[in-house]
Formats: sequence, C-alpha cells, structure tokens
Amino acid sequence: MSHTKSEIHFPPDFRWGTATSSHQVEGYNTNNDWWAAEQAGGTVFENQSSGRACDWWLRAENDFDRMAEMGQNAHRLSIEWSRVQPTPDTWSEAALLRYRDMIEGLHARGIEPMVTLYHFTLPKWIAERGGWENKHSPEWFVAYVRKVVTALGDLVTLWCTINEPMVLVGQGYAVDIWPPGERDLNLALKAALNLARAHAAAYHIIREIIPDAQVGLAKHMVVWKPHRDWLPTDHLITKVFDYVTNHAFLRAVTRGQIWIPGRGTFVIDNGKNTLDWLGINYYQRYRVGAKIFNILRNFFPGIPAEVIYQATRRGNQKGPGPWGEIHARGLYESLGAVEKYGIPLYVTENGLPDEYDHYRPRFILMHLYQLSRAIEQGMPVRGYYHWSLVDNFEWDKGYNPQFRFGLLGVDFETQERIPRKSGQLYTEICQQGGLTCEMIQRYAPLALPVIFPHCDGLT
Ligand code: FCB
Repeated sequence: MSHTKSEIHFPPDFRWGTATSSHQVEGYNTNNDWWAAEQAGGTVFENQSSGRACDWWLRAENDFDRMAEMGQNAHRLSIEWSRVQPTPDTWSEAALLRYRDMIEGLHARGIEPMVTLYHFTLPKWIAERGGWENKHSPEWFVAYVRKVVTALGDLVTLWCTINEPMVLVGQGYAVDIWPPGERDLNLALKAALNLARAHAAAYHIIREIIPDAQVGLAKHMVVWKPHRDWLPTDHLITKVFDYVTNHAFLRAVTRGQIWIPGRGTFVIDNGKNTLDWLGINYYQRYRVGAKIFNILRNFFPGIPAEVIYQATRRGNQKGPGPWGEIHARGLYESLGAVEKYGIPLYVTENGLPDEYDHYRPRFILMHLYQLSRAIEQGMPVRGYYHWSLVDNFEWDKGYNPQFRFGLLGVDFETQERIPRKSGQLYTEICQQGGLTCEMIQRYAPLALPVIFPHCDGLT
C-alpha cells in the first residue's frame, strides 16, 4: 500500500471485483419465495416480476467478458438454492453443472469467484414449511451446502454462507417489507437464531469437505447516528440499534452466544470462531432517536414502536426514497468496528442507486479513499466488490429506475448493456490498482481536495 501526493496504490494482490446475487441477475427463478411474492403482488414496485432479470442463467458469460475487459480479478456471485434443490428430495445435477460452467468461466478469465450460498431467496418448499422460523431450517441449509460444496469445492476457496442475515430478519420479520411478510419480534428472533445456527453448521461442513476453504459471511453494516446529539436517550437508542443490527449476529458466530436486549442470552451450538473472514456490505448512514415520553414504556422489549428514524439531515447528500445518507467515511468506520474480530476483511458490497451516474464516480473514489486509509492503518482488507456490475432486480424496488446500481446500465427490454462513466472509472482503478490525481480530475474534481489535497494536477 502506498500513498503519495498524487497516487494511491492498493496492495498488489488486492481483489478488485463486483458482486451480484442469483435472483437479481439470473432470470426466471420461478421456484423461490420471492418469485411467489412477485406473482402474488403487493411486495414489489408496480407489482413487477423479476422475469428475465439480466439473463445470466443463459448468458452470464457475456457479462464475465465485460468484467475481464474492465480489469476485474474477482467476482462475488450466489448460488440459487431453489435451482439446486427444487423439492425436498430432488437435486438438480443440471443446475450444479451450469454453476460449474459459470465458475470455470470466471477462472478462465482470470476472475476469482467468491460464492455466496444464500442471498435472500428460499426454495418455495422451505418457505411453505415456515422458512427460517422452522427449527429444521439449519439442517436443510446444511444438506444443501454439503451438496453444493461437494460439487463445486474444487473450484472455489472463498465461501460466503449467508448474505446480510439481519437485513433479511429486519425486512422479512420486523417491518414486513419482504417475504415472509411478518411483523413480529418473536419470529424475528427465532429466524435470527436459526440463521446463526445455519451459518455455524455450514462452516463446519464446508471446512470438513474442503480443509483449505475460507468461510465467512457478508454482514450489512449501518452507521447509526443520534438524531439529536444533545439527547442522551438518542445516544442510548443509537447504541441499541448498533448492537442489534451490526454486532449481535457477529457475536453469535464468533463467541457462540448471543445476547438480545430484553430477551436474554442464547447459545449457538458450535458457533464459536466460525468465521475465517468477514465481508461487510456498506451503503449508508441513518439517524435514529426516540420519542422521549414514550421511551420508558416502549424501550424494552419491542424497540421500534416509538423510534424516530431519519434518513438524513437537510443539506447532506442522501439516496432516493428511504435510502440513507451518503457518508464515505462510514466505510472506514465500519471496517474499524469489525477489526476487533481479528480476521481478514472484505468489502463484499458497496454502491449507490444512481441511474444517471451523476454521483457514482465521486462515490467510488471517496469510498476507495476511505478504504485505502483503513488499509494504511493496518486493517486487513483483502478486496472490494462493488455492487454491482449491471443494473438488476432490486428486491421490493424491482426495476424502479431510481434504484439502478450498475457500473453498466441495462436496457431490460433488449438486454443491451449501456456504458456508464463510473464503469470506465472503475476499469481504470482496477487496471492501475489504485487511484491517481489525474483520474480524479477527469471523473470527479470535487473529490480532489479530500483525496489529494497537495496535487494540482500538473504533477
Ligand atoms: C444489499 C443486498 C443486495 C442489493 C444491495 C443494493 O443490501 O445484499 O442484494 O440489494 O443491497
């Protein structure tokens, strides 16, 4: 790592990539809980369906070519459980072969795969049996993981068991935005514990099948900030949010037990030290506080009832709709918050919804600058996977034009890829292994005083 007046170089073996997930790009994943919700209506923007998505099931390789042309040497993709195990008693060898082809295709292009085993979508047969609420869900997950890892283990070292467990729990069980559409903190707790058990059991199985596998998970990290800086109760509620959303799950899979405010301590069998690495997905900062007169009544055990939750203060840049505040230093802060786990770190997602690419170039530069500071200070960050290579199906936001995350745009009628200047910028960054003053001048001069204050562009 080196940082001069006009250049920042990341370590030579740094992974430069993008991240995707099966349901968001493959198309026609008709056998999972999301597809069912899309068809039923009421969950997705304008009742859209994921449909063909980015057509990856048939032609992911075209986009793999683009990754390679863009100088990327890593990609995080996910396996669709409902394709591999369409019913409790059937395994699709054809699906596993297709994934084998894809992963070999990445290797052939010099792109190292990181494989996520579960990224939000459950096979319908599991959802019908109560999904993560069912006490058997960890066993079901492990059987699926055993099958996938046995089939693909010779091609993959970096395994990511679960994507954003607490986002799933929040959206699906606490605020009723995603399947299974619950608003019940008891169920949320049950699901969170089963996800932690599923991770722990999967960790051991993967290491048993491939002894040199590196197993981790992708943890969504939010920077929480007190709504009113002068109010101690807002600080307290910020701490509770930080603990519950950012740290409780990580405690479960590092210490083997989890303490939940107002609920007590729960043991996760064999959950201790089940992370070889940790991925953080970082997007935004939120402010949080509590309506003072209701605090005592509502604080425990049910947190949300009277919480003030605000995306941003006037004047600060924020994303569309409920999207929070854009706060690049939060990436540095979030990495700092997980450094204590003492394991290699990855930025497994980071990106911005920005159809017209107005802010994405600056966003990328500012976040990579913060990442470089973290590495300079000794944080063991091994790679950065931008979310995402291409626009894709953004869950409840569907294909809402406000929620386009691609370095390349997608025309969903024709499947055409549309170049964006942020894609060109990321190409230069990957090819050069870092940032230069000259690059910043061309793409986002506003970032120059922060990143290279002493560069006038003439050096
Ligand atoms: C993350 C999800 C990913 C995508 C991005 C925008 O929380 O893991 O699938 O939706 O947000």
